[in-house]
Order: sequence, then C-alpha cells, then structure tokens
Amino acid sequence: MAESKSLIAYFSRKGNNYVGGNIVNLPIGNTGVIAKKIQELTGSDMFQIKTVKSYPDDYTETTNVARKELKENARPELTGTVNDMDLYDVIYLGYPNWCGTMPMAVFTFLESYDFSGKTIIPYCTHEGSGMGSSERDIKKLCPNAKVLSGLAIRGGSVTGADKELANWLKKPGMSRI
Ligand SMILES: Cc1cc2nc3c(=O)[nH]c(=O)nc-3n(C[C@H](O)[C@H](O)[C@H](O)COP(=O)(O)O)c2cc1C
Repeated sequence: MAESKSLIAYFSRKGNNYVGGNIVNLPIGNTGVIAKKIQELTGSDMFQIKTVKSYPDDYTETTNVARKELKENARPELTGTVNDMDLYDVIYLGYPNWCGTMPMAVFTFLESYDFSGKTIIPYCTHEGSGMGSSERDIKKLCPNAKVLSGLAIRGGSVTGADKELANWLKKPGMSRI
C-alpha cells in the first residue's frame, strides 16, 4: 500500500492587516507563518489556496468584500488545484478567521474535492474569535471526512507558536470533536 501522506492547504492574506489593535503590514500572512512551521514539523506537502480575484490591499476594504461574500454565500474562484488529492490521508487546513468563520475561498476549496475517509485537521489565526463556526462549517461541507478539533492562534502570537504547535501535533490522534 502507498505510504500515507499529509497536505497543508492554507489560505492567508499578506499585507495590510489588523493585529493586536493596530494596522500593520505583514510580509507573510499569519496563517502562512503557521503553515510553514507545520511543514517543518511534519514534512507535509503545501498548497496555498488563492483566489483569481485578489482582495484589496486595504484591511477595511477587505473586510467589506469578505462580509459581502459571506452574506451572498459566494464561492470565489481559485487559481489552482491540488494535483492528486487521492495521495493525501491527512489535510492540515489553515485559514484566518474572517467574519466568524473561514474565508469563502476555503468553502470553494472544500467543495472542489472528495474528502471522504480523509482526516481534516483545522487551524486558524484570529484576533479574538478563535475557530468561530469554522469547524461546524467544515463538517457540513465534508460530511464524510473525520474533522478533528482545531487549533486557534492569535495573529500576533504566530512567530512564538512553535512549542504550542509541536505539542498540538504530538497529541495521539489529536482530540476528536
Ligand atoms: C476580512 C477580515 C475579516 C476578519 N474577521 C475576523 C473575525 O471575525 N474575528 C477575528 O477574530 N479576527 C478577524 N480578522 C482578523 C484575522 O483573522 C487575523 O488578522 C488573521 O491572523 C489574519 O491571517 P492572515 O494574515 O493569514 O490572513 C479578520 C481579518 C480580515 C482581513
């Protein structure tokens, strides 16, 4: 049997963002920083979920677009696809908390593949809302996947999150919801 492989699929928006009460410019998005650390710890393949239409540079304008997309239950078009999703048994799914859940682009991503029998391990970065309703939303979109409980990390804490991440990844099977 082929060796089981894991994939880190993540959405992250670098640039103008709100961190710890201030507007800052992030050279790498917070969720991207964590994706890289998970890769170092697990050796997983990486896939960045990107939209064809990019979000505005400005933070407030992006929140307006994001709110509208959520309200309309939009499915923004993505730029690329995972070559062979069948290869992966475990998917670390990373995203920022946007408006209480995942960016709608992550909804598009989850609807683009069959995750039956796979394990989805979510994590998010946020500014206070934690995982929000994202875990519930993932389960709705992927009813036949095993969705483990996620790890929520404050945006301002990503650079120092190594130990927390290592401990999280060490949990046997991780705690199931
Ligand atoms: C459009 C938008 C909506 C957001 N909504 C929330 C929210 O509802 N709750 C929250 O805690 N943080 C919210 N945030 C903050 C992000 O979750 C946080 O800054 C995250 O670390 C950004 O990750 P990234 O740099 O990987 O994109 C929002 C940020 C943006 C840009």
